[in-house]
Amino acid sequence: PNPHSELVASRLRDVADFPKQGVVFKDITPLLGDGHAFREVIRGLAARHTGSPSRIDAVAGVEARGFIIGAALALELGVGFVPVRKAGKLPGDTVQRSYDLEYGTATIEVHSDAVADGDRVLLVDDVLATGGTAIAAWDLLTSCGAEVVGFETIVELAFLGGRVALGDRPVHALHVVG
Ligand code: PRP
Ligand code: HPA
Repeated sequence: PNPHSELVASRLRDVADFPKQGVVFKDITPLLGDGHAFREVIRGLAARHTGSPSRIDAVAGVEARGFIIGAALALELGVGFVPVRKAGKLPGDTVQRSYDLEYGTATIEVHSDAVADGDRVLLVDDVLATGGTAIAAWDLLTSCGAEVVGFETIVELAFLGGRVALGDRPVHALHVVG
């Protein structure tokens, strides 16, 4: 039993039939609302990326929950944050990608100049479910010239197959469900 996994488990709430019938939604708001737990989780996500061999140039996160986690992680690592937004929100030139969610479809986009060629970017989100969001964000950042070095998440819903869908992209989760 790893302490981060147990901490996450103790601060996760299951909500039945949200956002639609049959989905048991894993809600991270109790974790965010506990300052100690929030800080420990951010440290847990940062831990594997602090050494100089695995130097990170930026953290990227997907709107909206990926912003909360990603901004905190960027501060912890002392690097900038790249917002990957739902379509129509970014003012500059963008590149976009559409993908399927556990409970719908979505289009995300990033500023075309958000990363410099060869920048080592760490992608982060609160939950890995089917992997659709992570793959779309990963490929979008890659198409902008980034070298995405890995995907970090607080919760992995293993029964939805995200890790398999991500293939050989490195994935790390603090807490795995299922
Ligand atoms: C959730 C979650 C991840 C994604 C995971 O975001 O925060 O980004 O779904 O699902 P996937 O692995 O099947 O792609 P959502 O799109 O619900 O948006 P939100 O952050 O605005 O709530
Ligand atoms: N919880 C939070 N986010 C999610 C979930 C979930 O169960 N499934 C897909 N995104």
